[in-house]
Amino acid sequence: MATIIDGKAISLQIKDELKERAAALKASGIEIALAVIQVGDNPASCVYVRNKKKGCEYIGIGSLSFELPEETTQEELLALIGELNERADVNGILVQLPLPAHIDEDTVIKAIDPKKDVDGFHPQSVGALCIGQPGFVSCTPAGIIQLLKRSGIEIAGKECVVLGRSNIVGKPMALLLLRENATVTIAHSKTKNLKEVTKRADILIVAVGRPKMVTKDYVKEGAVVIDVGINRDENNKMCGDVDFDDVAPVCSAITPVPGGVGPMTIAMLLNNCIESVNLQR
Ligand code: GUN
Repeated sequence: MATIIDGKAISLQIKDELKERAAALKASGIEIALAVIQVGDNPASCVYVRNKKKGCEYIGIGSLSFELPEETTQEELLALIGELNERADVNGILVQLPLPAHIDEDTVIKAIDPKKDVDGFHPQSVGALCIGQPGFVSCTPAGIIQLLKRSGIEIAGKECVVLGRSNIVGKPMALLLLRENATVTIAHSKTKNLKEVTKRADILIVAVGRPKMVTKDYVKEGAVVIDVGINRDENNKMCGDVDFDDVAPVCSAITPVPGGVGPMTIAMLLNNCIESVNLQR
Protein backbone atom coordinates (compact mmCIF):
# COMPACT_ATOMS: atom_id res chain seq x y z
CA MET A 1 0.00 0.00 0.00
CA ALA A 2 1.21 3.47 -0.88
CA THR A 3 2.38 6.13 1.55
CA ILE A 4 -0.27 8.83 1.72
CA ILE A 5 1.40 12.23 1.47
CA ASP A 6 -0.15 14.46 4.13
CA GLY A 7 -0.36 17.93 2.60
CA LYS A 8 -2.18 19.32 5.59
CA ALA A 9 0.62 18.37 8.00
CA ILE A 10 3.39 19.54 5.63
CA SER A 11 1.62 22.86 4.97
CA LEU A 12 1.29 23.40 8.73
CA GLN A 13 5.00 22.74 9.19
CA ILE A 14 5.75 25.38 6.49
CA LYS A 15 3.30 27.88 8.00
CA ASP A 16 4.95 27.47 11.41
CA GLU A 17 8.36 28.17 9.85
CA LEU A 18 6.90 31.25 8.13
CA LYS A 19 5.38 32.41 11.40
CA GLU A 20 8.88 32.49 12.90
CA ARG A 21 10.28 34.36 9.90
CA ALA A 22 7.42 36.90 10.05
CA ALA A 23 8.10 37.45 13.77
CA ALA A 24 11.84 37.93 13.13
CA LEU A 25 11.09 40.46 10.36
CA LYS A 26 8.65 42.28 12.63
CA ALA A 27 11.31 42.44 15.36
CA SER A 28 13.63 44.14 12.84
CA GLY A 29 10.91 46.66 11.98
CA ILE A 30 9.59 45.06 8.77
CA GLU A 31 5.83 44.50 8.60
CA ILE A 32 4.41 42.53 5.67
CA ALA A 33 0.95 42.89 4.16
CA LEU A 34 -0.91 41.14 1.35
CA ALA A 35 -3.69 42.88 -0.59
CA VAL A 36 -6.39 40.47 -1.76
CA ILE A 37 -8.82 41.64 -4.45
CA GLN A 38 -12.00 39.76 -5.29
CA VAL A 39 -14.47 40.91 -7.95
CA GLY A 40 -17.98 39.49 -7.58
CA ASP A 41 -18.97 36.67 -5.26
CA ASN A 42 -18.08 33.37 -6.96
CA PRO A 43 -18.66 30.90 -4.08
CA ALA A 44 -15.39 28.97 -4.61
CA SER A 45 -13.45 32.25 -4.74
CA CYS A 46 -15.08 33.37 -1.46
CA VAL A 47 -13.76 30.20 0.24
CA TYR A 48 -10.24 30.58 -1.23
CA VAL A 49 -10.05 34.27 -0.32
CA ARG A 50 -11.23 33.59 3.23
CA ASN A 51 -8.59 30.88 3.64
CA LYS A 52 -5.87 33.16 2.27
CA LYS A 53 -6.78 35.87 4.79
CA LYS A 54 -6.85 33.27 7.59
CA GLY A 55 -3.39 32.10 6.50
CA CYS A 56 -2.02 35.67 6.78
CA GLU A 57 -3.48 35.94 10.25
CA TYR A 58 -1.98 32.57 11.27
CA ILE A 59 1.59 33.49 10.31
CA GLY A 60 1.22 37.04 11.63
CA ILE A 61 1.25 39.20 8.52
CA GLY A 62 -1.32 41.82 7.51
CA SER A 63 -4.02 41.39 4.91
CA LEU A 64 -6.04 44.10 3.19
CA SER A 65 -9.25 42.98 1.63
CA PHE A 66 -10.90 44.55 -1.42
CA GLU A 67 -14.27 43.00 -2.19
CA LEU A 68 -15.53 44.68 -5.33
CA PRO A 69 -18.97 44.29 -6.91
CA GLU A 70 -19.45 42.10 -10.01
CA GLU A 71 -20.10 45.18 -12.17
CA THR A 72 -16.71 46.77 -11.38
CA THR A 73 -15.16 47.96 -14.64
CA GLN A 74 -11.73 46.89 -15.86
CA GLU A 75 -10.60 50.53 -15.58
CA GLU A 76 -11.66 50.68 -11.92
CA LEU A 77 -9.82 47.44 -11.15
CA LEU A 78 -6.69 48.63 -12.97
CA ALA A 79 -6.83 51.91 -11.05
CA LEU A 80 -6.94 50.04 -7.72
CA ILE A 81 -3.99 47.84 -8.76
CA GLY A 82 -2.09 50.99 -9.77
CA GLU A 83 -2.64 52.46 -6.30
CA LEU A 84 -1.59 49.25 -4.56
CA ASN A 85 1.54 49.03 -6.75
CA GLU A 86 2.59 52.43 -5.36
CA ARG A 87 1.77 51.75 -1.69
CA ALA A 88 4.90 51.07 0.37
CA ASP A 89 2.82 49.29 3.02
CA VAL A 90 1.61 46.63 0.53
CA ASN A 91 4.08 43.86 -0.31
CA GLY A 92 1.91 41.47 -2.27
CA ILE A 93 -1.10 41.92 -4.59
CA LEU A 94 -3.38 38.99 -5.37
CA VAL A 95 -6.35 39.25 -7.73
CA GLN A 96 -8.52 36.18 -7.22
CA LEU A 97 -9.40 34.40 -10.48
CA PRO A 98 -11.68 33.85 -12.32
CA LEU A 99 -12.70 37.45 -13.03
CA PRO A 100 -16.11 38.37 -14.50
CA ALA A 101 -16.26 37.89 -18.28
CA HIS A 102 -16.15 41.64 -19.06
CA ILE A 103 -12.64 41.92 -17.52
CA ASP A 104 -9.56 40.66 -19.38
CA GLU A 105 -7.48 38.52 -17.00
CA ASP A 106 -4.22 38.90 -18.94
CA THR A 107 -4.45 42.71 -18.86
CA VAL A 108 -5.12 42.63 -15.11
CA ILE A 109 -2.25 40.22 -14.36
CA LYS A 110 0.14 42.37 -16.41
CA ALA A 111 -0.88 45.47 -14.43
CA ILE A 112 0.49 44.02 -11.17
CA ASP A 113 4.02 45.17 -10.33
CA PRO A 114 6.15 41.99 -10.81
CA LYS A 115 7.82 42.80 -7.46
CA LYS A 116 4.40 42.33 -5.80
CA ASP A 117 3.16 39.43 -7.97
CA VAL A 118 2.90 36.86 -5.15
CA ASP A 119 0.77 34.56 -7.37
CA GLY A 120 3.67 34.34 -9.85
CA PHE A 121 1.31 34.82 -12.81
CA HIS A 122 2.92 37.93 -14.40
CA PRO A 123 4.74 37.19 -17.71
CA GLN A 124 7.92 38.58 -16.13
CA SER A 125 7.66 36.09 -13.23
CA VAL A 126 7.04 33.20 -15.63
CA GLY A 127 9.94 34.32 -17.85
CA ALA A 128 12.27 34.57 -14.83
CA LEU A 129 11.33 31.02 -13.80
CA CYS A 130 12.00 29.83 -17.35
CA ILE A 131 15.56 31.20 -17.44
CA GLY A 132 16.42 30.56 -13.78
CA GLN A 133 16.33 34.14 -12.50
CA PRO A 134 14.85 35.34 -9.18
CA GLY A 135 11.11 35.94 -9.19
CA PHE A 136 7.85 34.69 -7.72
CA VAL A 137 6.86 31.12 -8.57
CA SER A 138 3.25 29.99 -9.04
CA CYS A 139 2.08 28.63 -5.68
CA THR A 140 0.58 25.22 -6.54
CA PRO A 141 3.60 23.87 -8.44
CA ALA A 142 5.98 25.35 -5.85
CA GLY A 143 3.92 23.56 -3.19
CA ILE A 144 4.25 20.25 -5.04
CA ILE A 145 8.05 20.54 -5.06
CA GLN A 146 7.90 21.06 -1.27
CA LEU A 147 5.58 18.06 -0.85
CA LEU A 148 8.06 15.86 -2.73
CA LYS A 149 11.16 17.17 -0.95
CA ARG A 150 9.66 17.08 2.52
CA SER A 151 8.45 13.51 1.89
CA GLY A 152 12.03 12.49 1.07
CA ILE A 153 11.25 11.83 -2.61
CA GLU A 154 14.29 12.37 -4.85
CA ILE A 155 13.53 14.40 -8.02
CA ALA A 156 16.92 14.64 -9.78
CA GLY A 157 17.27 12.20 -12.64
CA LYS A 158 13.68 10.94 -12.34
CA GLU A 159 11.24 10.57 -15.24
CA CYS A 160 8.50 13.08 -14.45
CA VAL A 161 5.31 13.33 -16.48
CA VAL A 162 3.07 16.36 -16.03
CA LEU A 163 -0.45 15.68 -17.31
CA GLY A 164 -1.98 19.10 -18.10
CA ARG A 165 -0.48 22.26 -19.64
CA SER A 166 -2.18 25.22 -17.93
CA ASN A 167 -0.28 28.45 -17.32
CA ILE A 168 -0.97 28.22 -13.58
CA VAL A 169 0.02 24.58 -12.93
CA GLY A 170 1.22 22.39 -15.83
CA LYS A 171 3.76 24.70 -17.49
CA PRO A 172 5.39 26.11 -14.31
CA MET A 173 5.35 22.58 -12.81
CA ALA A 174 7.40 21.28 -15.73
CA LEU A 175 9.88 24.17 -15.40
CA LEU A 176 10.30 23.59 -11.64
CA LEU A 177 10.89 19.85 -12.12
CA LEU A 178 13.47 20.68 -14.80
CA ARG A 179 15.15 23.08 -12.35
CA GLU A 180 15.36 20.09 -9.96
CA ASN A 181 17.15 18.10 -12.70
CA ALA A 182 14.29 15.76 -13.58
CA THR A 183 13.64 14.48 -17.11
CA VAL A 184 10.30 16.09 -17.89
CA THR A 185 7.46 15.28 -20.29
CA ILE A 186 4.30 17.38 -20.58
CA ALA A 187 1.29 15.34 -21.74
CA HIS A 188 -2.15 16.74 -22.57
CA SER A 189 -5.49 16.03 -24.22
CA LYS A 190 -3.92 15.68 -27.69
CA THR A 191 -1.09 13.36 -26.59
CA LYS A 192 -1.08 10.08 -28.50
CA ASN A 193 -0.87 6.79 -26.55
CA LEU A 194 -1.37 8.73 -23.32
CA LYS A 195 -1.27 5.70 -21.02
CA GLU A 196 2.07 4.61 -22.47
CA VAL A 197 3.46 8.09 -21.80
CA THR A 198 2.14 8.39 -18.23
CA LYS A 199 3.36 4.84 -17.46
CA ARG A 200 6.92 6.03 -18.06
CA ALA A 201 6.65 8.30 -15.03
CA ASP A 202 8.53 7.75 -11.77
CA ILE A 203 6.65 10.87 -10.63
CA LEU A 204 3.26 11.58 -12.25
CA ILE A 205 1.64 14.98 -11.67
CA VAL A 206 -1.99 15.18 -12.75
CA ALA A 207 -3.66 18.56 -13.36
CA VAL A 208 -6.39 18.06 -15.95
CA GLY A 209 -9.60 19.02 -14.11
CA ARG A 210 -11.41 15.75 -14.93
CA PRO A 211 -12.78 13.80 -11.97
CA LYS A 212 -11.03 10.43 -11.40
CA MET A 213 -9.67 10.32 -14.97
CA VAL A 214 -6.39 8.63 -14.02
CA THR A 215 -6.88 4.96 -13.16
CA LYS A 216 -4.22 2.31 -12.48
CA ASP A 217 -3.78 1.69 -16.22
CA TYR A 218 -2.03 5.08 -16.40
CA VAL A 219 0.43 4.39 -13.59
CA LYS A 220 3.68 2.43 -13.40
CA GLU A 221 4.04 0.09 -10.41
CA GLY A 222 5.81 2.01 -7.61
CA ALA A 223 5.36 5.50 -9.10
CA VAL A 224 4.69 8.64 -7.02
CA VAL A 225 1.33 10.18 -7.95
CA ILE A 226 0.47 13.83 -7.24
CA ASP A 227 -3.16 14.84 -7.78
CA VAL A 228 -3.85 18.55 -8.34
CA GLY A 229 -7.55 18.14 -9.18
CA ILE A 230 -10.39 19.51 -7.08
CA ASN A 231 -13.68 18.15 -8.44
CA ARG A 232 -17.02 16.79 -7.26
CA ASP A 233 -17.94 13.19 -8.05
CA GLU A 234 -21.42 11.85 -8.96
CA ASN A 235 -22.38 11.96 -5.24
CA ASN A 236 -21.17 15.56 -4.90
CA LYS A 237 -18.20 14.32 -2.85
CA MET A 238 -14.87 16.08 -3.34
CA CYS A 239 -12.47 14.10 -5.52
CA GLY A 240 -9.29 14.58 -7.51
CA ASP A 241 -8.29 13.90 -11.12
CA VAL A 242 -6.92 10.54 -9.94
CA ASP A 243 -9.10 7.57 -9.02
CA PHE A 244 -7.50 7.24 -5.58
CA ASP A 245 -8.91 3.82 -4.61
CA ASP A 246 -7.85 2.31 -7.93
CA VAL A 247 -4.36 3.87 -8.07
CA ALA A 248 -3.22 3.79 -4.39
CA PRO A 249 -2.54 0.00 -4.38
CA VAL A 250 -0.09 0.22 -7.32
CA CYS A 251 1.93 3.34 -6.44
CA SER A 252 4.58 4.00 -3.78
CA ALA A 253 3.18 7.38 -2.64
CA ILE A 254 0.07 9.39 -3.46
CA THR A 255 -1.61 12.66 -2.43
CA PRO A 256 -5.23 12.50 -1.26
CA VAL A 257 -8.00 14.97 -2.22
CA PRO A 258 -8.75 16.84 -0.03
CA GLY A 259 -5.66 17.20 2.17
CA GLY A 260 -2.90 16.76 -0.44
CA VAL A 261 -1.88 19.54 -2.82
CA GLY A 262 -4.69 21.96 -1.83
CA PRO A 263 -3.32 23.16 1.54
CA MET A 264 0.15 23.66 0.00
CA THR A 265 -1.04 26.41 -2.36
CA ILE A 266 -1.82 28.78 0.50
CA ALA A 267 1.38 27.86 2.36
CA MET A 268 3.40 28.82 -0.73
CA LEU A 269 1.43 32.04 -1.22
CA LEU A 270 2.39 32.98 2.35
CA ASN A 271 5.98 31.95 1.58
CA ASN A 272 5.93 34.31 -1.43
CA CYS A 273 4.65 37.13 0.80
CA ILE A 274 7.62 36.64 3.16
CA GLU A 275 10.03 36.29 0.21
CA SER A 276 8.68 39.55 -1.26
CA VAL A 277 10.88 41.41 1.20
CA ASN A 278 14.00 40.03 -0.54
CA LEU A 279 12.70 40.83 -4.05
CA GLN A 280 11.67 44.35 -3.03
CA ARG A 281 15.02 45.25 -1.46
N1 GUN B 1 -8.10 30.91 -8.62
C1 GUN B 1 -7.85 29.58 -8.45
N2 GUN B 1 -6.59 29.40 -8.00
C2 GUN B 1 -6.03 30.63 -7.88
C3 GUN B 1 -4.76 31.09 -7.45
O1 GUN B 1 -3.84 30.34 -7.10
N3 GUN B 1 -4.60 32.44 -7.47
C4 GUN B 1 -5.56 33.29 -7.87
N4 GUN B 1 -5.28 34.60 -7.87
N5 GUN B 1 -6.75 32.90 -8.28
C5 GUN B 1 -6.98 31.57 -8.28
